[in-house]
Amino acid sequence: MARIDDGYDYLYKIVLVGDSGVGKSNLLTRFTKNEFNYDSRTTIGVEFATSIIKVEEKAIKAQIWDTAGQERYRAITKAYYRGAFGALILYDISKKATFESVERWLKELKENSDNDMVIMLVGNKSDLTNQRQVRTDEGKAFASAHGLNFIETSALDASNVNEAFTEILTEIY
Ligand code: GTP
Ligand code: MG
Repeated sequence: MARIDDGYDYLYKIVLVGDSGVGKSNLLTRFTKNEFNYDSRTTIGVEFATSIIKVEEKAIKAQIWDTAGQERYRAITKAYYRGAFGALILYDISKKATFESVERWLKELKENSDNDMVIMLVGNKSDLTNQRQVRTDEGKAFASAHGLNFIETSALDASNVNEAFTEILTEIY
């Protein structure tokens, strides 16, 4: 495949979904800018960022759409699922309710996407070990029951952040 002007071989759109406050925006800024914000503002509507990674000698450009978790933006954000090849559904390992919402996010993705997306379940805030409300094996079990990939990350200490994006992009590719 011919290289396109700014030097990548493939372009894939990925969406980030999950309840408000689970850390979608920070996961994205950690991945694309290596930045973390302790008091970030809630996302209004949708924002996006891009990053290029290398998989098997190919440059893969990820166009990552960070959606608002708040209910009131739902009608807008689901319009952005179209054209996505992959999705990360995030929950916060220190907030059980955000894990309980995962099923609803999964349903919404499936109803509003046009591709057979690769979906990864991401338990974020793994640094909050003392406040953990969702065990790793619960996350794993849900993921395997629904045919999803699974990883735990921390946007704060950066653990598994690159791995999460690399894994989903490799799977799409
Ligand atoms: P919406 O835009 O409202 O949907 O929320 P969001 O999912 O984008 O959450 P955001 O990234 O704004 O993070 C919410 C809060 O959680 C912020 O105060 C972050 O600093 C914090 N946070 C995000 N990721 C982590 C993490 O990995 N560990 C810890 N301890 N805090 C985190
Ligand atoms: Mg956000």
